[in-house]
Amino acid sequence: MQIVILKDATEVARYGADLFVAQLKKQPASTLGLATGSTPVALYQNLIEKNQQGDISFSQVTSFNLDEYLGLDGSHPQSYRFFMNEQLFDHIDIAKERTHVPPGDAQDPIAACQEYEARILAAGGIDIQLLGIGRNGHIGFNEPSSGLTSRTRVKTLTKATIDDNARFFSEDEYQPHLSITMGIGTILDAKKVVLLATGENKAAAIKATVEGPLTASCPASALQMHRDAVIVIDEAAASELA
Ligand code: F6R
Repeated sequence: MQIVILKDATEVARYGADLFVAQLKKQPASTLGLATGSTPVALYQNLIEKNQQGDISFSQVTSFNLDEYLGLDGSHPQSYRFFMNEQLFDHIDIAKERTHVPPGDAQDPIAACQEYEARILAAGGIDIQLLGIGRNGHIGFNEPSSGLTSRTRVKTLTKATIDDNARFFSEDEYQPHLSITMGIGTILDAKKVVLLATGENKAAAIKATVEGPLTASCPASALQMHRDAVIVIDEAAASELA
């Protein structure tokens, strides 16, 4: 695990974006693993700017997102497909048909999970996977107690995650309690993993991720087993490290 500690969220986003830029310059037909949530937004902004300046192209890229709420289709404003279109895909030269987000409206979610895994495999695997981290140490929607070798599957969200994400839903809006998420094993198969975290409220999760022990109680600690995992954090998120 490589730990990069930077001053603030702006520097974290720039550093993370540069890793994606380097990957795209080295291999324009890369397969990218992408995340939602508030943390990657500034990184996506960086990538949009670089794309619009002609510095990088996504025209040969394939992408796979980590997760999606089960029960929301892609036109729902809180769906992760909608988020990705708004925050990234609509502003870059990516072919939408090569962008993949788990189908939140799948009639047969279990079959859809197997198909998602098969598509990742058919694309040659993920070259670089972006991650955020939950306060409880989750990556994707792999909540504490998730199997460390798990594959894409349906997961129930914990109360902590539902409460953390309630800020995105209005009071009378249905908030899903189920998701489809890549498994920890799926994430560990990516050739490179880049986890971003900023702010003091992530400090405990970062300490558990970096200093261990390796445990399903902190799913992100599984990244200790990865050969090329980079943890990019600001000083606040690093504040509990020994
Ligand atoms: C999102 C995802 C989640 C988030 C995590 C942190 O696709 O998989 O694991 O990365 O919940 O969310 P933020 O960045 O909003 O703190």
